[in-house]
Amino acid sequence: MVHLLFAVSFAVSIWVETSNASAVPSNHFTVLACHRLPGDHDWPSHAEWTRLNATVGGRLTAGVPLGQVCQTPDYDTDACDQVQEQWTQVPIYFQNPVNVMSPYRQNNSCNPFSLPNSTCILGNIASYAINITGAADAIAGVKFAMKKNIRLSVKNTGHDYIGLSAGRSSLGLWTHNLKSISFFNYSSSVYTGPAVRLGAGVQAIELYGSATEKNLRVTAGYCPTGGVVGGYVQTAGRGPLEGQYGLAADNTLEFEVVTTKGEHLVANPEQNSNLFWALNGGGGGTYAIVISQTTRAHADRPVAGGSLTFNKTDDDTFYSAIEAWQKHLLVFDDIAGWNCERASTTTASASTR
Ligand SMILES: *[C@@H]1O[C@H](CO)[C@@H](O)[C@H](O)[C@H]1NC(C)=O
Ligand SMILES: *[C@@H]1O[C@H](CO)[C@@H](O)[C@H](O)[C@H]1NC(C)=O
Ligand SMILES: *[C@@H]1O[C@H](CO)[C@@H](O)[C@H](O)[C@H]1NC(C)=O
Ligand SMILES: *[C@@H]1O[C@H](CO)[C@@H](O)[C@H](O)[C@H]1NC(C)=O
Ligand SMILES: *[C@@H]1O[C@H](CO)[C@@H](O)[C@H](O)[C@H]1NC(C)=O
Ligand SMILES: *[C@@H]1O[C@H](CO)[C@@H](O)[C@H](O)[C@H]1NC(C)=O
Repeated sequence: MVHLLFAVSFAVSIWVETSNASAVPSNHFTVLACHRLPGDHDWPSHAEWTRLNATVGGRLTAGVPLGQVCQTPDYDTDACDQVQEQWTQVPIYFQNPVNVMSPYRQNNSCNPFSLPNSTCILGNIASYAINITGAADAIAGVKFAMKKNIRLSVKNTGHDYIGLSAGRSSLGLWTHNLKSISFFNYSSSVYTGPAVRLGAGVQAIELYGSATEKNLRVTAGYCPTGGVVGGYVQTAGRGPLEGQYGLAADNTLEFEVVTTKGEHLVANPEQNSNLFWALNGGGGGTYAIVISQTTRAHADRPVAGGSLTFNKTDDDTFYSAIEAWQKHLLVFDDIAGWNCERASTTTASASTR
């Protein structure tokens, strides 16, 4: 029901922008509500994709499922062995323009471990993707998708298990290669102090390394390869420093974005403030395409952490372990750096087997 309402309101907004209401018969409404799919007569032609490719400096790729090299007629023993070896690891997904880290949840549409004569289709991943190098590429992608009425998706690392960075038959905007990191002193009516401007493709391990060199630290996630801009902040951004500084979304100062109308804007608490609030937790792949983000940096300090793992044999064991853990929290809280680790204590007490 919710989806249906969303589809209808989306159709209305497209319709108002592109059509003259009195001139359009009511059944046109339904037609405009549906995005074009491969095979539709007005799905962009080869020549149109080629023109888009030229606009973005040859950085348009056709989507290919990673498992295709394990399927007829593309079967290739060496390439297939490699995909099988790396299938449960992270890099093949974040280094790829369209494939996301949840192939099984994305309907398992091309499984490299199935027989070579099995079906291998794109399924829910993007049909094409632009390897974004800056706002101009994103604008070209948004305009093309609007003009051709095709779905748009945004992928950074693909660290997402519910498909927010995928999109069946979409044109994907792949932000992974926007890697700039620059520390500076920020000043506004909201905050004055150290900050960092991050390209949309920066991953936690890259940020943590550069921040340490400056004796600073910045809120990001636990997983070293997770992106720290874009989808992470748009889904609030949890991480090991949240007990001390709040969510990553509490630490942002501004976003540089391309909107779904193809505008290149800055959103902060003073300028385009509604968009700023929406981007701080409003959901990945929704309000705008983030090109860069400026976020607070904090003076570096000690960090301490720990985890408690026990086997759940029966309820009494379970609750006595929880009790012991909670008693120890008072001791842990006196350890320098521990009080920023509340997220970690929560994880530990939950990690029972
Ligand atoms: C886009 O152009 C580049 C460079 O010419 C080419 O390698 C690539 O295959 C093209 N992409 C598509 C989807 O045709
Ligand atoms: C998932 O795949 C099955 C076939 O394997 C297909 O019938 C179904 O429509 C797909 N569902 C989605 C949501 O893509
Ligand atoms: C696929 O190959 C297997 C093993 O060679 C065979 O048993 C099966 O019938 C084939 N399936 C199809 C759909 O051709
Ligand atoms: C994406 O573009 C960047 C910048 O031009 C380039 O270095 C990189 O190799 C490209 N990646 C892919 C997979 O095309
Ligand atoms: C920011 O200001 C501090 C204090 O004045 C100074 O030590 C630091 O070097 C400045 N940082 C940058 C990146 O300019
Ligand atoms: C939990 O059980 C597993 C399997 O029986 C065992 O290998 C492991 O050492 C146990 N862990 C603890 C903390 O008792």
